Amino acid sequence: MKIIGTGSAVPKLSVSNGDLATFLDTSDEWINTRTGINSRHILSDETIEELGARACLNALKMAGLKPKDIDYIICSNVYSSYVTPALSCVVAEKLKVFCPCIDINGACVGFIYALEMANAFIESGKYKNILILCAENASRLADWKDRSTCVLFGDAAAATIVTHGGCRKAAFQIESLPDSEVIYSYNPPGNCPYTKSYPEGSLMHMQGQDVYKFAVSISTVGLKRLIKSQGTDLSKIKFFLLHQANKRILEAVRSRLKQPEEKFPTNIDKYGNTSSASIPLLLDELNRSGKLSSGDYLAMSAFGAGLTAGACLITWGS
Ligand code: ACO
Repeated sequence: MKIIGTGSAVPKLSVSNGDLATFLDTSDEWINTRTGINSRHILSDETIEELGARACLNALKMAGLKPKDIDYIICSNVYSSYVTPALSCVVAEKLKVFCPCIDINGACVGFIYALEMANAFIESGKYKNILILCAENASRLADWKDRSTCVLFGDAAAATIVTHGGCRKAAFQIESLPDSEVIYSYNPPGNCPYTKSYPEGSLMHMQGQDVYKFAVSISTVGLKRLIKSQGTDLSKIKFFLLHQANKRILEAVRSRLKQPEEKFPTNIDKYGNTSSASIPLLLDELNRSGKLSSGDYLAMSAFGAGLTAGACLITWGS
């Protein structure tokens, strides 16, 4: 497979740590030192569906394709405006695309899960141009009265267009270590008269320190294992694109892998944790700023609710 287009879109409203401190018992100093986040973009008068469509159009433009050229849409999303239809269908309607559409909920690992699916579809020869959209509205799930979680998240959409040919290496290692207590949020209750009770709490609950420990260990081990299994070594990797959840997690993984800082690009300061959109958003930034060359090895790694985890190694370009 080969990535021929990337595109992203973030809400116009940027909310600084100082803005949050006006209604939460927190401070710029606490948030910045513990997470590396300075601000995040939050949906106000736009929708995640509009943001998703914008990201797709940006990626299509870069790929030199029209919406009608897309054969399949895979959308990674935890929470959108609809329970049904899938976000991929709503975005397809906006783009006027008529192709199979599916949503996956791999939480923050969604991009790596989706890329592996796209790669398998392309290898099978069944589809040619696959659009992956990671669009996340975490601000709608976050509990804005819980200072330990709401300060971490931001909203964003990032799209990637994958086609056949070109990529010399595409290796994936995805997994889950199921534990639904660490990060969860329940669907809102229905009104079925037969159901005795619904679990309470439709806003996000997270055990931050457990996630932190899981993230550092799974990302370090996963990357080492994958890169070794592909007969290469860490020194050959141009960039490590890690899920942007916390600067301290990135730093802990980097130091365990004994790699220089410049190999770990980050944008968490501007966007916070945008769940599955975080890696493709970073990829789009690197791509648009001309930092990627044909043949570069890119290693990606993410972790998230589930718990899910995944790593991926690709060669950039043709
Ligand atoms: N402002 C000020 N104080 C705060 C805030 C805040 N926003 N949040 C928590 N505190 C306080 C706590 O109440 C606690 O106070 P206490 O000592 O009086 O009880 C103190 O700060 C320390 O809290 P800890 O939870 O121990 O802080 P920690 O250093 O562990 O940092 C954090 C918390 C940032 C959440 C960290 O654990 C983390 O990053 N974990 C990983 C989370 C993550 O990556 N989540 C996303 C992955 S999954 C996904 O993406 C969906």
